[in-house]
Amino acid sequence: MKKILSLVLAAIMVLGVASALAANNEKPVIWFNRQPSNSQTGELDMEALNFNDKTYYVGFDAKQGAELQGEMIVNYLQAKGAELDRNGDGIIGYVLCIGDVGHNDSIARTRGARKALGTAVPDATQGKTEIVTIDDVDSQPIGMNADGSATDVKDGAITIGDKEYIVRELASQEMKNSSGATWDAATAGNTIGIWVADLGDQIDVVVSNNDGMGMAVFNAWSKEAGVPTFGYDANSDAVAAIAEGFGGTISQNADVQAYLTLRTLRNALDGVDIMTGIATPDAAGNALNDSLYYYDEATRCFYALNGAVTAENYQNFLDATAPNALFNFQLSEEDAPVKNVWLDIFNSTDNFLNSTYAPQLKNYDKILNLNVEYVSGDGQNESAIVNKLEASADDAEGYAINMVKTDNAAAYTSILQ
Ligand code: BGC
Ligand code: CA
Repeated sequence: MKKILSLVLAAIMVLGVASALAANNEKPVIWFNRQPSNSQTGELDMEALNFNDKTYYVGFDAKQGAELQGEMIVNYLQAKGAELDRNGDGIIGYVLCIGDVGHNDSIARTRGARKALGTAVPDATQGKTEIVTIDDVDSQPIGMNADGSATDVKDGAITIGDKEYIVRELASQEMKNSSGATWDAATAGNTIGIWVADLGDQIDVVVSNNDGMGMAVFNAWSKEAGVPTFGYDANSDAVAAIAEGFGGTISQNADVQAYLTLRTLRNALDGVDIMTGIATPDAAGNALNDSLYYYDEATRCFYALNGAVTAENYQNFLDATAPNALFNFQLSEEDAPVKNVWLDIFNSTDNFLNSTYAPQLKNYDKILNLNVEYVSGDGQNESAIVNKLEASADDAEGYAINMVKTDNAAAYTSILQ
């Protein structure tokens, strides 16, 4: 009997040790915000998405959001009068701040704005000859285009009141700083100075792939000039600026994404159904609403849906960091014992991730009993983040990864192999 007992005890100990030392390549991996994909073609990196059976991606529907941004801009312009055409030349001229030419979200937003404004041409690099959806649109930056001769866009048309105007993309550029960081707000703030010096009152509208760049332009120029400026992300400062003439922004529901990022980690760690606390309420009552997200099982991707934030509704969005009442209930430590996880933000100066997404993560890490080690990169070198992952990989029980470049998943998974 004694012998059996000690054998059982030994077996329990071995099992206990074995589970405490789960191999890194068996631990949950959640990609978020930057979807493992080919930065040229957008094709998903299925190897990274199938790294193990506890791997998922959490992001938002880039296409739906991009179409919504385009629609929001057109609605705004159509509701305006002739004063929109500042120099009265019959052309509504806009400039476009592009975030990262190799980032799905940025590409989609450039496409969505161009399609809605009628300036889109088919993407020849993809062999497209007509535009059916925004996926068919050429998303290249054009540099300067005061005379309308650029070939990656064309002049569009819009009716305002009873007058038809030409719509022209006067300039567009990827906002990348000299050391290579993309979506760079400071670069956008400087570039508007160059554009204004060149184009002056030809600029009637500013469109930006995100709020960080849009707000840099707004603060540097368009607020004072009274030129409507449109962003994306619904960061608190951009939402507040709507009261001062910022044209509008899109909420990608960072609360939903931050919760999903940590929730999928939690569920994978607990070995429960991945939809726990998402499609079906957990023991504490947390659950998402169907109108907030969808899940694509084939590619293991969760997508939050987007909503427009305009002068009509911005009051409801003033605090981008507030937790969502639908999923803010504390889990018990019995159901969900504290676990250590590792999470990186690819760029310590990215506006959206640091001012909106990270505070949202910090709302939900506590209620999910996750002890998160937060690390940041510099937005340029994958290796800086990968080194930190290497240092923490054995201690962490799961990982949430935000890459610098969407092509680089293997730099992370090779560390976990
Ligand atoms: C956001 C951008 C941000 C980027 C970082 C996008 O979804 O809209 O503001 O810079 O993510 O990857
Ligand atoms: Ca004009």
